[in-house]
Amino acid sequence: MNKKRFYITTPIYYPSGEPHIGHAYCTTLCDVFARAKRMRGFECYFLTGTDEHGQKIEQNALKEGKDTQTYIDEKVAVFKKLWTAMRISNDDFIRTTQERHMKVVQEVFTKFLKNDDVYLGSYEGWYCTPCESFWTDTQVGENHICPDCGREVKREKEEAYFFKTNKYLKELEKYYDNPDVIYPLNRKTEMINTFIKPGLEDLCVSRTTFKWGVPIRENKEHVAYVWLDALFNYLSALGYGSENDELYKKFWEDPESEIIHVIGADITRFHTIYWPEFLSALNLRLPDRVFVHGLLMMKDGKMSKSKGNVVSPYPLIDRYGVDTVRYYLTREVVFGSDGQFTPEQFVERINVDLVNNLGNLVKRTVSMITKYCDGIIPEFKKVINELDKELESIVPLTIESYENKLDDLHITEAFIDVFNMLGRANKYIEEMAPWTLAKDPSKKEELDSVMAHLAYVILVGAKLLEPILVETSSKIYTQLGLENGIDYKEIKDSSRLNGLKVVNMDALFPRLDVAKEVEYIKDLMAKK
Ligand code: MSP
Repeated sequence: MNKKRFYITTPIYYPSGEPHIGHAYCTTLCDVFARAKRMRGFECYFLTGTDEHGQKIEQNALKEGKDTQTYIDEKVAVFKKLWTAMRISNDDFIRTTQERHMKVVQEVFTKFLKNDDVYLGSYEGWYCTPCESFWTDTQVGENHICPDCGREVKREKEEAYFFKTNKYLKELEKYYDNPDVIYPLNRKTEMINTFIKPGLEDLCVSRTTFKWGVPIRENKEHVAYVWLDALFNYLSALGYGSENDELYKKFWEDPESEIIHVIGADITRFHTIYWPEFLSALNLRLPDRVFVHGLLMMKDGKMSKSKGNVVSPYPLIDRYGVDTVRYYLTREVVFGSDGQFTPEQFVERINVDLVNNLGNLVKRTVSMITKYCDGIIPEFKKVINELDKELESIVPLTIESYENKLDDLHITEAFIDVFNMLGRANKYIEEMAPWTLAKDPSKKEELDSVMAHLAYVILVGAKLLEPILVETSSKIYTQLGLENGIDYKEIKDSSRLNGLKVVNMDALFPRLDVAKEVEYIKDLMAKK
């Protein structure tokens, strides 16, 4: 059931290196979702940001001989620049070093202490600095390897505060009873089997071995553990606990708002166990949905800054355009499964969907309307033959399934349906053979009907694709004589284009020479 309002968040990224297309993947998905909701008239607040504390950041800054804040400011600027280049429409950008955020973390810690949710103890375990995570003996195995990143872990012991995870187990179990909360469901099963069933260990929520974190007011030796710090970004960005908390009331407290976190599979535990527990301890509402996407892999495994097998989105945007990169990311990886980036698939995807299917359809239709109808889109008359009828019936079905699938965050699938509709229209051209109809004056009405149907399908397709194709859709409206675009509410009106004059323009997407472009992208990757 659609709520009135949406709050959608990406994880906040560690700005410890250059952003890569793995980061762009999650941010693009959320952006597409937010744009689609706004397009359909819903209010949507979209948050992203950076997770700036922790030992790794402190060490990296030191390595570069920079003061930590200066180091981070430079890195964060790179993330922000990328989001601008990718036309990400976030409403806010939260940084965990901002005062508005640090205050919240300190307040929360005080509440935890008062409420007896945390206690002072000591921690001994295997610590992975790049992942900022402690692991148990079983998890690191005989070789003492971090189960997440595969690097060697260190044995560490320190005084630390612990969060009583079992105190909120009942709330967590109740949360898990709702089948819609964690998607895909296998992630929930994984959490239950790996962490909950064997018995939750209390979570270490403070550190004393480094300083770059939110200081715990009650005990100056400690800073908040990065994950406790980071998770609260979702609340601090809305002004939770401050005088200025309208956004919090509107997008978190109000049941009319749906709270959606989109995350990568590697951080499921934090979002589906500790985060709901922290919120329960504070007696706050729990998120409605945690959507877990798969990772975009390279041939040699997970793309990661630390492995150095990263593809940067910038040169791809420069060469192929922002819409192409946005489309590839939304389409290529089916939500919930892992995907693999290969130059071949990237080029193929553009050629098949954007050049052949969408681009060709628009080019052919506009040229035919110019040639056969003096450039004027004929009146959309009701059904002339079976094929018109079929194409016509696909439109409302596509709109309906697009809306339902997007509401369910089946983002990739929603757009596959749109491309299927465009594919159907391309086939319709072959079936109707307008070039033959044009030779027979008695078939003029039929020919006009074909042109009107094609123009209408293109219009609907362009509108449905607008959340991804932020530049191309408006070029299509212009070609259909709609200089100012069209409101979503109007797309069901098949007479909207009657009598408008088409404008011939260059192909929307130039065809890519597969061998040449694959070579180009491989070169980019090698340079990295
Ligand atoms: N800072 C934490 C998140 C805190 S959220 C309260 C973090 N940062 S991260 O930069 O390492 O990762 C951020 C997100 O990017 C994660 O969801 C992670 O899954 C995602 N990705 C990192 N590499 C990725 C791919 N190669 N492919 C897809 N997503 C990837 O974890």
